[in-house]
Amino acid sequence: MLNFNVLSQKSNLFNSFNTPLVCEKMNSELSGFYKKNIKKRINEISKKAKLSNFEKKTLLKETTLQFKVVDRMVENSIGTFETPLGIATFFKINKKDYLIPMATEEASVIAACSKGAKLARVSGGFKTKSTKPIMIGQLQLIKIKNLTKVKKLILKNKSKILKLANSVDPTLVKFGGGAKNIEIRSLKKKTLVIHLLVNVKDAMGANAVNSMCETISPMIENITNEKVRLKILSNLAVHRTAKAKAIWLEKNLGKEVIRKIIEAHQFAELDSFRAVTHNKGIMNGIAALTMATGNDYRAIEAGCHGFACLKGTYEPLTKYYKDKKGNLVGEIEIPVQFGLIGGATKIMPKAQIALKILGVKSSQELGEIAAAVGLSQNFAALNALATEGIQKGHMKLHAKNLATMAGAKGKEIDTVAKKIVNSGKATFDEAKHILKHLRKNDKKK
Ligand code: MEV
Repeated sequence: MLNFNVLSQKSNLFNSFNTPLVCEKMNSELSGFYKKNIKKRINEISKKAKLSNFEKKTLLKETTLQFKVVDRMVENSIGTFETPLGIATFFKINKKDYLIPMATEEASVIAACSKGAKLARVSGGFKTKSTKPIMIGQLQLIKIKNLTKVKKLILKNKSKILKLANSVDPTLVKFGGGAKNIEIRSLKKKTLVIHLLVNVKDAMGANAVNSMCETISPMIENITNEKVRLKILSNLAVHRTAKAKAIWLEKNLGKEVIRKIIEAHQFAELDSFRAVTHNKGIMNGIAALTMATGNDYRAIEAGCHGFACLKGTYEPLTKYYKDKKGNLVGEIEIPVQFGLIGGATKIMPKAQIALKILGVKSSQELGEIAAAVGLSQNFAALNALATEGIQKGHMKLHAKNLATMAGAKGKEIDTVAKKIVNSGKATFDEAKHILKHLRKNDKKK
């Protein structure tokens, strides 16, 4: 990995005449690479990237997600990529206690999420609700001469189209899911978009929806005498949302902190630059839960950010206000494209364990948990930002990382980390400096 970086840095070097200073070539044409088994691929990449024996061995280490499984999941695989997995605690959602598995590389996220939940717990925890798991499949029709006529034709044949869509997945239909409705939207440039609304039950739904869209496409072409172009699910899942609400008591936060949190939220309402970071904090929690449960975090991210823009400007996904007693009330609504069945969730052993830890019974329940997690994460971030700032909380874990990066081993890690926190300078240079002094003093002893 490092070698790749070093190589690419070198080959990006140009002198003032724009001629490469270093011409270290690495040919990426690996023909038949996909046909090899993982171990042979690792060998080949190790040679190409000049990986050390240790680096090669690191890639060769098989985890609970076995190579044979990985090889069926993605193409050209060379193993797995680990991310820390932790548990956010103190969650009470609709009177039920949950342990929340979170996969994240970011320090402080899990602690902050638990803190928000702990403080919400004293007033009953989170209350959530959600819509049915309805996903949208889009079919694009372009260069339409008579939009009204085409619209009418589609609506006239609605039940025929829905019937055909439902023939794709009889099991889904048997359990109450399936294509339920059709919406039509006119766009600029004589474009018409058909939205096929599908109840996907406990699946994320991409496969079912995409298959349905492709199946009904020829029928739509026949009915309208127009060409259908794209046929694909939309990740702006506006019909599949979850809401969460929590109250943080004035007696625990204090009047001033509540005022500051509301002002911090107002900043995000007024300014998209802030709103993006505000929502990034929300996604710290939601994405970690999504990863831990093997769900499609790109879909969830894209959906949430799109949802934040529905009114035309980028807005915060949460809102805060005071209730009559002066307590802080927080609310969130997000699109929730979570699945419990199919896809990676079923294949990855740790995703299955995460779902067992959560004890969820439906994708709707998982979506509601995600909303509560996002709200808790956001509350904790605003609480920290509006009071002591986030660096103090970050510092402890970050300091340990810095100490390790600087070369500290065993007990040295904690000692160096403590000294970094005390110095208030969480930098790599400071870590190196402290470690050097520590070792010097140890030698003297
Ligand atoms: C850092 O990962 C997330 C925050 O920046 C979120 C926020 O600013 O609200 C702390």
